[in-house]
Amino acid sequence: MPDHLKDDSKVVVRPARTVRGVVRIPGDKSISHRYAMLAAIAEGTSLFHNFSAARDCASTLDCLRNLGSAWKRLEDGAIEMQGVGPRLTAPKEMLDCGNSGSTMRMLSGILAGQPFSSELFGDESLSKRPMARIMKPLSEMGAKISSGDGGRPPLKIEGGALKAIHYKPEVASAQVKSCVLFAGLFADGETVVEEPIRTRDHGEIALRAFGAEVERIGNASSIAGGQKLRPIEAHVPGDLSSAAFFLCAAALFAGSQITLPGILMNPTRARLLEILMRMGLQISVAHLEEHQGELLGTIEARGTAWKGGIIAGADSAALIDEIPVLAAIAPYSEEGLEVRDAKELRVKESDRIAAVASNLRKMGAEIEERPDGMRIPGKQHLHGAELDSFGDHRIAMAFAIAALRAEGETVIVGADAAGVSYPAFFEELKSLAE
Ligand code: S3P
Repeated sequence: MPDHLKDDSKVVVRPARTVRGVVRIPGDKSISHRYAMLAAIAEGTSLFHNFSAARDCASTLDCLRNLGSAWKRLEDGAIEMQGVGPRLTAPKEMLDCGNSGSTMRMLSGILAGQPFSSELFGDESLSKRPMARIMKPLSEMGAKISSGDGGRPPLKIEGGALKAIHYKPEVASAQVKSCVLFAGLFADGETVVEEPIRTRDHGEIALRAFGAEVERIGNASSIAGGQKLRPIEAHVPGDLSSAAFFLCAAALFAGSQITLPGILMNPTRARLLEILMRMGLQISVAHLEEHQGELLGTIEARGTAWKGGIIAGADSAALIDEIPVLAAIAPYSEEGLEVRDAKELRVKESDRIAAVASNLRKMGAEIEERPDGMRIPGKQHLHGAELDSFGDHRIAMAFAIAALRAEGETVIVGADAAGVSYPAFFEELKSLAE
């Protein structure tokens, strides 16, 4: 039986009249993974405030403990990590990456440079996800890396001395970019990653915060091998991809009003805010600050009329994690939503195009599913239904938001999946919905 069908946790979501209030969102998942990995290979003790509460980041922390980096959670929730320097300890057991593609892909970059062999595995969803995208560059750098059938997990990595490469990934993937740049720390010479489309740059920013020099020219990021990392103290900005669920909830109701303090405003992620504004949400940002090179600010959002629109090209890559919730609320829009150039959605924690289509149809909506996207007409009336999370955190949360405007109750089966990125999501949603 698939893992997600074994999870029979259910949450009932009732229709709301509006959403109102303040939510403090836990630290960004992408940044937390990278901070933890780099802290482990830094020389000294790092301290992270507002570290992500995501189960995915707990997977990263557990793997790092198995690799010799001790960490503890302090009383105020901060994470204190002991760096062991560039040489980690050979793991005594296989490294369990859980549901987390980020853990497997980015940690592989560091493991490729270690003088020992390690094995990484994941849950049923992760076991289906493509790893050839990191195996190829790491092999070119000199690591011996093997996988299960078709380039899927588990992975076995025999690390060692690496040589620098100039790599041009076929897919736009920040995970691949960070993986190769992390491996570049252990390579002889200058490693360059030239991406087809600009992706999130948390890897580059974190490397610089830990003291490494990383150059960015056009779409190419480069790093010289042999650089030592220093420990840091950092405050992790609130996760904008988690905030997206509440922003979409606000978009559903004219007159809604929400405040989200301390949210990540990194320009490679904040394209979401421009798209939400274009589609009809009123947004203002105040109290902009910078921590360790990352921008954060307080978002105030008010609903007006939800228009919908088109997401395509570079926007699809920039919004890849937020498309499920934008699609889930699309039937309530005036013009509907068209998503193109997003075939990566098919190889996320679930096939997110198929999952969105299946759940929207159960709610009575019309949707045209395409190989690389979808077309969802607007001005539709949805009814509550029993929906499946497909074991995917973003699908569980996206449909909790769609349920707020449906007629009647919606049941999300496998709702516990939300904890993969946002364990307190359903409680926060309850406190906002009126
Ligand atoms: C992430 C990058 C994206 C995103 C994932 C987190 C990251 O994946 O979907 O949730 O932290 O770099 P890809 O880089 O594979 O597109």
